[in-house]
Amino acid sequence: MKKKIAVIFGGKSPEHEVSIESAKTVCARLRAAGFAVLPFYAPREGAWRLVGLADLLAGRPLKGPALEPSLGAGCFLKAGGGRVKPDAAFPIIHGSTGEDGVLQGFLELLGLPYTGCGVTASAVGMNKIISKELVALDGVPVLPHVVVRAHQKAAMGPLLARAARLGFPLFVKPVAQGSSVGVAKVKTAAALRPAVLNAFRFDSAVMIEKGVDRAREIVVGVLGSPEGAAASVCGQVVPQGKHEFFDYEAKYLDDNGMRFLLPAPLPAAVAARLRALAVRIFMALGGSGLARIDFFVDPKDSKRVYFCEINTLPGFTSHSLYPRLWERTGLKPERVLKRLVDMALRSAAARRRLTTARK
Ligand SMILES: Nc1ncnc2c1ncn2[C@@H]1O[C@H](COP(=O)(O)OP(=O)(O)O)[C@@H](O)[C@H]1O
Ligand SMILES: [Mg+2]
Repeated sequence: MKKKIAVIFGGKSPEHEVSIESAKTVCARLRAAGFAVLPFYAPREGAWRLVGLADLLAGRPLKGPALEPSLGAGCFLKAGGGRVKPDAAFPIIHGSTGEDGVLQGFLELLGLPYTGCGVTASAVGMNKIISKELVALDGVPVLPHVVVRAHQKAAMGPLLARAARLGFPLFVKPVAQGSSVGVAKVKTAAALRPAVLNAFRFDSAVMIEKGVDRAREIVVGVLGSPEGAAASVCGQVVPQGKHEFFDYEAKYLDDNGMRFLLPAPLPAAVAARLRALAVRIFMALGGSGLARIDFFVDPKDSKRVYFCEINTLPGFTSHSLYPRLWERTGLKPERVLKRLVDMALRSAAARRRLTTARK
């Protein structure tokens, strides 16, 4: 019997459409890898639905019965009758509620094995303060930064002065967003406060980070489990045209907003160091399954490298960085997806074997 995989996509985030594109690739490739695919669509509003695979792949409207979770039973009840019991779930919702541990916690309560990072690693990965603190404890270089929290907003003068002493440019960002939403490059002291106030529109804490001017942005894919993980080759993303950095427009709206250099033109020793750091970061944050890890490399001195962030549910469209990094490393998307499902099933079985009794 083919294993049934529920691919959960959509979600309430600016990356809803990207998620649909990711789901198309994931569903098609999972099917090619020998799985039975159940597309679960989480619309921006309203109930989750079990939609037609053919409709999804052809870009037709997504229709199907609403789904109601049966907590603890690992299955869903279909509106109008019947139940769906997948062998595992494959969440591919980017950003809030999909990538931050919320969906993962729901799947734990449901009692369904799922691919990718668990609750803690997902939540930690989404938080720029906690993830940077944790990897720094493990000896990974991060850029100096100042954090402004909600209760400090009314009297943030001294914090802004401290941030200005780090030197310009500075990057201001909401602590737990993504997609460059609310991110600003600040070149003068006068522009700092407005940028911080703007970032507060998106989050209750804001990070002001020392900027690496014209940083080379290097991305590495990681695939594995807490028992062992591998890093892909390094890629480099280059913002193009009028974009000085990867703002939201360069990422999603401007077709010519970026170029992708694969492999990244780095000295071999620097590439090897970044790959080793990527695995170390994945382990330090308790990652499992997949993650894309982003770094900054100083253009004037490639020995200066810094952790930028971890993405625990990177895009998986046909032109996304994560599958392309692995393809260049010699692993086709089908193989990557099959490994993710195998790891999910294996770790769920291992967890079932852990004793829950007191002795
Ligand atoms: N310290 C920095 N130095 C140089 N560029 C930065 C810095 N911080 C952010 N950026 C630029 O802003 C983009 C978005 O920042 P990032 O921390 O990755 O947030 P997000 O989670 O929104 O992607 C980066 O891809 C990079 O182009
Ligand atoms: Mg980023």
